[in-house]
Amino acid sequence: MRGIDELGDLRGQRVLLRSDLNVPLDGSVITDDGRVRASVPTIRRLTAAGARVVVMAHLGRPKGAPEPKYSLAPVAKRLGELLGADVAFATDTVGESARKTVAALADGEVALLENLRFDARETSKDDAERGAFAAELADLGDVFVSDGFGVVHRKQASVYDLAQALPHAAGLLVQAEVQAFAKVLVDPERPYVVVLGGSKVSDKLGVIDNLLEKVDRLLIGGGMAFTFLKAQGYEVGGSLLEDDQLDTVREYLTRAADRGVELVLPVDVVVAADISADAATSVVPASAIPADQKGLDIGPATIELFRGKLADARTVVWNGPMGVFELPPFAEGTRQIAVAVSEVGGTSVVGGGDSAAAVRQLGLDEGAFTHISTGGGASLELLEGKELPGLTVLES
Ligand code: 3PG
Repeated sequence: MRGIDELGDLRGQRVLLRSDLNVPLDGSVITDDGRVRASVPTIRRLTAAGARVVVMAHLGRPKGAPEPKYSLAPVAKRLGELLGADVAFATDTVGESARKTVAALADGEVALLENLRFDARETSKDDAERGAFAAELADLGDVFVSDGFGVVHRKQASVYDLAQALPHAAGLLVQAEVQAFAKVLVDPERPYVVVLGGSKVSDKLGVIDNLLEKVDRLLIGGGMAFTFLKAQGYEVGGSLLEDDQLDTVREYLTRAADRGVELVLPVDVVVAADISADAATSVVPASAIPADQKGLDIGPATIELFRGKLADARTVVWNGPMGVFELPPFAEGTRQIAVAVSEVGGTSVVGGGDSAAAVRQLGLDEGAFTHISTGGGASLELLEGKELPGLTVLES
């Protein structure tokens, strides 16, 4: 996979840069700018080289036509603040505004195009449609840099087809993400511990399948743990439960035992009748969840148990919160496990999505982890052992 330095002299070159700037917004306020910050080093590297940088990104899932609530305008503003420079904003993707904005760029300047998904061809399943959109994007640039790690699992025009239309390279973020995941997927240092959480076990089946073959210990918390507890014969009250996954989960329990993988489940749970910030909570054994209560976080004994299982780890991957961390009564499990992961002696990788958001929302030290991924679905698919089209295409 070529890097930016292998693209030759970039002075005066128009670099089409695919970033993942898909951030959560409350109105026009960005509530977590992690992805915007993660895009900055590559942009700086390109501007320092004298390139004219044309950033392309998507926001949300508009239906192939402009929708004001999905405009990237607030992101252009935030990007400008982080860069300490103006970011010109094109109000379309390949139309007159985009052409004029790009033509007006001087060496070392940056523009951002409007949400690529305002054009239905970006996400089309039809190769010709995507190819046509990629060709129009390619007219705006001389070279392509792929740095939107969070979208490399998508076979979309700006991720996949554009790499076939122009000389291309991987940006610094994509390189860092790929290296971090390679380190935990290929010959990891042991003991190798994976911590999985999040609400649904059905979202993590591929990850469990793949990682059961590699890890020494698998610690399971979050909503998905209740399907495992139920599979072991416990009642889980009103907790999240996926009945249709019980057989699969039983098979995982057997496979883990057969392979000598320690599969560790919560031994106690923070429960409440409702999911609310002022809920009355109590801690109960995982084997005795009352029928009228929901498990919403791992309990203190589980935190200690998981900490012990992490203490000697040399490689840790953590994906998914341990509870409803957005609400203070149910945040402690996620906080304590995040701290324990950050303290491991070897490599610690945080899968993107909710776990990365939790690290930031709980005010934890991002620098204490080896790597915090910006990819939600993309990092899961890598952990599932899949080939990602947006990475494969960069190899050509
Ligand atoms: C993400 O948020 O995981 C990426 O930006 C990809 O978004 P998508 O799932 O809408 O393709």
